[in-house]
Amino acid sequence: MQITISVNHTKHSLDAPPQTLLVELLREHLQLTGTHIGCDTAQCGACTVVVDGRAVKSCNVLAVQVNGAHIQTVEGLKQGTNSHTGWHPIQLAFSKHHALQCGFCTPGMMMRCVAMANENIAPNPNEVAAALAGNLCRCTGYEGIVAAACEALPQMRQHHASI
Ligand code: FES
Ligand code: FES
Repeated sequence: MQITISVNHTKHSLDAPPQTLLVELLREHLQLTGTHIGCDTAQCGACTVVVDGRAVKSCNVLAVQVNGAHIQTVEGLKQGTNSHTGWHPIQLAFSKHHALQCGFCTPGMMMRCVAMANENIAPNPNEVAAALAGNLCRCTGYEGIVAAACEALPQMRQHHASI
């Protein structure tokens, strides 16, 4: 099937079998391997990307279902900032709050946080932790991730850095 999508503001027209998952399209057809596969059963959130502003577990979506959509992956984060540092606010906040250890969950975690900027989620630990419930981390204990998201949310909204 012919699938046309925009990924990190670059348009792609790809030929893929109809059963191709979005995560497969990103990793295997576009070599965007920053999107990870943890469980492949929509539980861990490692494969989270942003589709038209919303967080989506890309192992749980067929590529044809996002035909015509704009997709942001972790590789596109630097395009989403107007910070003088060149880093996206969520990247800076993850670094500052030591929000990663092995890093396997990190791309999905950051993309979930990026999508939060488009949702009615207050930047406080309770709301942010609830919003992160679908993303699992086996290393950090979540404290730094929640702190990073709380710090970055107002900045992302202010600078329209979400997408
Ligand atoms: Fe998609 Fe775990 S790999 S949710
Ligand atoms: Fe290792 Fe989250 S940093 S799984």
